[in-house]
Amino acid sequence: MQNNVALRTLLAFAALVAVCPLAAAAEEESSTARGKYLVGIMDCGGCHTDGYLAGKPEFNRYLAGSMIGFGGPAGIVYPPNLTPSRENGIGNWSDEEIINAIRTGRRPDGRALAPVMPWPTYASLTDTDAQAIVDYLRTLPANEFRPPRPVAAGQPAPAPYLDLKPAGTGTDAT
Ligand code: HEC
Repeated sequence: MQNNVALRTLLAFAALVAVCPLAAAAEEESSTARGKYLVGIMDCGGCHTDGYLAGKPEFNRYLAGSMIGFGGPAGIVYPPNLTPSRENGIGNWSDEEIINAIRTGRRPDGRALAPVMPWPTYASLTDTDAQAIVDYLRTLPANEFRPPRPVAAGQPAPAPYLDLKPAGTGTDAT
């Protein structure tokens, strides 16, 4: 009887130990799935995928950056490569660094991202959702595409960009 109880306890413990890694793997998978969903509805790809803003998305370079930039008073910024490439993407960034960029607009080098990257809106992401986005981005194939670096105002544009200056008088379309 005594032995039986001990054996059952041992078996229950063994089963728990066997299931734990499975549970951890399932949790990771669901975080990645949640991240994929969020990246979709938050439209990261609409800006960070080349060709998207021109109606011809290059899906083989999904989230690897865009050659269509955004021009504002401070210059022109091009949506960077978000794949795990160490050279041209964010493969060298820690989870925390990526989450900071998304929620506070701070790059690891301290530069503030232009608010056309909607970090002021993304600031309200929960920790779990921010981590899910990172988990998903880490599953992307590393892509070596390299969009232009930011260009200061007055410098020549290396590639096309959308000019964010307001235009028209507000009565043109009537
Ligand atoms: C409206 C366009 C737009 C959308 C939508 C957008 N981004 Fe961005 N993002 C940009 C631009 C432009 C930059 C570069 C800004 C700069 O250099 O100042 C940027 C920069 C970044 C950076 C910093 C990368 C680096 O190398 O500096 C990260 C990380 C990032 N975005 C992640 C995301 C994620 C994740 C999403 C979706 C949840 C997203 N972005 C949605 C336009 C966008």
